[in-house]
Amino acid sequence: MHDTLRLIHSRRSIRTFSDRPVSDDTLLTLKEATLRAPTAGNMALYSIIEVKDQSKKERLALLCDDQPMIAKAPVVWVFLADMQKWVNYFEESGAVKRAQAAGLAAFRSPGLGDIHLCLQDAIIAAQNAVIAAEALGLGSCYIGDVIENFEDLSDLLCLKRFTIPAAMLILGYPKQTASVKQSPRCPVDSIFMTDGYEELHLDALEQAYHEHESSRRKVGSLPYGNEGTLADYYYLRKHSSAFMEEMNRSTAVMFERWVNG
Ligand SMILES: Cc1cc2nc3c(=O)[nH]c(=O)nc-3n(C[C@H](O)[C@H](O)[C@H](O)COP(=O)(O)O)c2cc1C
Repeated sequence: MHDTLRLIHSRRSIRTFSDRPVSDDTLLTLKEATLRAPTAGNMALYSIIEVKDQSKKERLALLCDDQPMIAKAPVVWVFLADMQKWVNYFEESGAVKRAQAAGLAAFRSPGLGDIHLCLQDAIIAAQNAVIAAEALGLGSCYIGDVIENFEDLSDLLCLKRFTIPAAMLILGYPKQTASVKQSPRCPVDSIFMTDGYEELHLDALEQAYHEHESSRRKVGSLPYGNEGTLADYYYLRKHSSAFMEEMNRSTAVMFERWVNG
């Protein structure tokens, strides 16, 4: 198998890190590889905050659904969808005024489409970082809870109106542990569709997530005394959880601030 494919197929999320520090050289290599990700119009509609201050890491760990591994991670990166820099660039360079004076374009405040594009840029860069990290022997884990508690996160990281968290990664050298089995994936045919959306219903869904369910059954983590289904598990643990409610509240606030100030 090609080296890159081997890397992709052997990756798994790493949540505990060794004490080995990540050198400045390695970090720079990782940063440069991250920035080689494709970006819409080559505008780099994202920024990355490296959280180094230990007290900020600890606060971040609390804000992200209290996950202490965040405070222990050697490298913590928050990927922002960032239109603020272009708003500043357009205004401070006089581009807005020139376009108005020439009757070419009226001022337009960034909207939902801009958010979408900026999020794509940020998330694509994050995944480049994951793969580059893997190539450098570093492990990584996304932290989805970075979209919770937006008001507090915004204060902590000094965010501006047209910046919102898109993704977060913790990185470091993996702590040596007995090799852990990789998590299952859905079969290719259940994810790839041809020429149009093919809605999945119960039989197909049970098949698609069969491996997920049996691996959870094996470790006894399904609800209703391990008699429940994978749907029960995700419905209770994720879909109707307090953290999911907070993610929805917080995301509404960040989108509202971007669109309406
Ligand atoms: C958007 C996103 C958010 C995630 N958030 C968390 C998180 O907050 N905490 C965590 O421990 N893992 C988190 N993960 C890691 C997933 O649990 C992990 O990718 C998934 O279980 C598959 O395992 P694998 O990455 O080892 O293949 C997140 C992954 C993604 C893509």
